[in-house]
Amino acid sequence: MSFIPRDRPRRLRRTAALRALVRETALGVDDLIQPLFVVHGREVRREIPSLPGVHHLSVDTSLDREADVLVAAGIGAVLLFGLPLAKDPIGLENFAVDGIVQQALRRLHDRHPDLLLITDVCCCEYTSHGHCGILDPTGVDNDATLDVLGRVGVSHAAAGADIVAPSAMMDGQVGAIRAALDAAGHHDTAILSYAVKFASAFYGPFREAADSTPAVGDRRGYQMDPANGREALHEAALDEAEGADLLMVKPALAYLDVIHTVRARTSLPLVAYNVSGEYAMVKAAAERGWIDERRVVLESLLGMRRAGADAIISYHALDVARWLAESPG
Ligand code: PBG
Repeated sequence: MSFIPRDRPRRLRRTAALRALVRETALGVDDLIQPLFVVHGREVRREIPSLPGVHHLSVDTSLDREADVLVAAGIGAVLLFGLPLAKDPIGLENFAVDGIVQQALRRLHDRHPDLLLITDVCCCEYTSHGHCGILDPTGVDNDATLDVLGRVGVSHAAAGADIVAPSAMMDGQVGAIRAALDAAGHHDTAILSYAVKFASAFYGPFREAADSTPAVGDRRGYQMDPANGREALHEAALDEAEGADLLMVKPALAYLDVIHTVRARTSLPLVAYNVSGEYAMVKAAAERGWIDERRVVLESLLGMRRAGADAIISYHALDVARWLAESPG
């Protein structure tokens, strides 16, 4: 034996109590947001093939039962997506009083008044062409789309949304929605901006779930180029200035550096979206027995927290809540 180290970080890894004492980051049930997909129909609870364990739910006892299970597990917030009865170029059901998301908001609010209700505000699930806004001959008309997004935000707030989350990546969408909400008296409805949303292949399973693949073209004209980290700071700063209450980075796993840098530049709460493709990959590998699902999921979500996310939207949320209840940390 020749060299005897003086510095020994292993001293603090020796026992579980030591490791717990010096642990820097925690993942808790309060950090989790569960996405839900609501559909028309009766007693529908249909598993989404590309998202095993996630279901299309009708707004009746199917949704009630799901919400009861989430609340019992300690989940405090859900993010709602709706599939309309019919699609059209503007997406009229998106801001209809009896739209599917509006129905779900009223039902959830009655049944679980303390559950935080967050809604996705976008056009792609509702439009016949599948784009996130209103089309003109050259593409998506940014400013015409702002009017629609404002109407959607107001209609969600009126139906009981606590937080509206614009995801269309139109310029000015946060300012437009804030102005529309305030004009309608919804001063207390918060805005969670999908400020930094990349044009990502990791949304694939979601587009099957939401039936929202663009009929022609793609979303690269409005969602961000995955190569750009500096631009993420610009997007985040703009949305903060327009009045966003919380910011989001999406997807999460391939963008942990972006979460980290946005965290350093804003004092707003920051949310990471652990998207559908990230979920589906873990599920597929776990099904084959190639990875330990529980450990991989907890490690991934902890990584998002360590990178700087305060809260995480994840299809794994319910499972994580149950795992944390079995053995916290
Ligand atoms: C709507 C929207 C999308 C997602 C959230 N909101 C799809 C998209 O932008 O194409 C993706 C969520 C996921 O993949 O889990 N614009």
